[in-house]
Amino acid sequence: MSNIKQLIAKQQAGEKLSMLTCYDFSTARIMNQSAVEMILVGDSAAMVMHGENSTLPIDYQTMAQHVRAVAKGAPDKFIIGDLPFLSYRKSLDENMRAVEALMKAGAHAIKLEGVKGNEALIEHIVNSGIPVMGHIGLTPQSVNQFGGFKVQGKSADDQARIIQEAQTLEQLGCFAVVLECVPDALTRELVKHTELITIGIGAGAAVDGQVLVLQDMLGFSSQFSPKFLRRYLDTEQLFLHAFNAYAKDVKGQQFPGPEEQY
Ligand code: KIV
Repeated sequence: MSNIKQLIAKQQAGEKLSMLTCYDFSTARIMNQSAVEMILVGDSAAMVMHGENSTLPIDYQTMAQHVRAVAKGAPDKFIIGDLPFLSYRKSLDENMRAVEALMKAGAHAIKLEGVKGNEALIEHIVNSGIPVMGHIGLTPQSVNQFGGFKVQGKSADDQARIIQEAQTLEQLGCFAVVLECVPDALTRELVKHTELITIGIGAGAAVDGQVLVLQDMLGFSSQFSPKFLRRYLDTEQLFLHAFNAYAKDVKGQQFPGPEEQY
């Protein structure tokens, strides 16, 4: 089981860390046998598991179900549960209900997007013994404010703000931060100003580790091709080939064969 102390030790030793998203038991069981250190049960589940156009529609109860399935499949991995849209922008009681649901489902840490307005909650979660991962840069829950999924931190003002946000997260007691879709030059500057474990997605190579959305890196869709994405499999074609081979066998009465019957 990789734990937070081991992750910090690896970061301090200059070892790069890998994180992938995961949402279900069967995939988590395979990921558990891999060298990937961290699993993010991300609210990207809304899009890649539930077919939504953004991460906004998913609720914390559904996220908790995904966390529970992943925790059963990957008992050796450090699992981060993602707090979904607005689930941590209510009263302290309600916010902590969402945190509690993810932790009791099997997460070892929680992630939340943004900084402004989350300061007191982050401190409260950290003081409750729960590791917190921040998320800055392109924060997909703010897609409507950004006017789309766009690279952030292009202007000098935005760059200064994003570096300041990382420093604030560190002061509040976070152990890590996801930095999403920002120019590499900003990342190189930011890592000089924080001790946080920095995990990048579309943020260049200067971070401590990388994260990709599982379905994207496995090539479930040929439609989604952002510049930062590297595909490690062409799952769309592999699956299509298997589905068509199966349909052909059934139609041609090649399946089941004599040895596949009772
Ligand atoms: O929900 C998610 O998958 C994420 C990653 C893109 C970092 O937040």
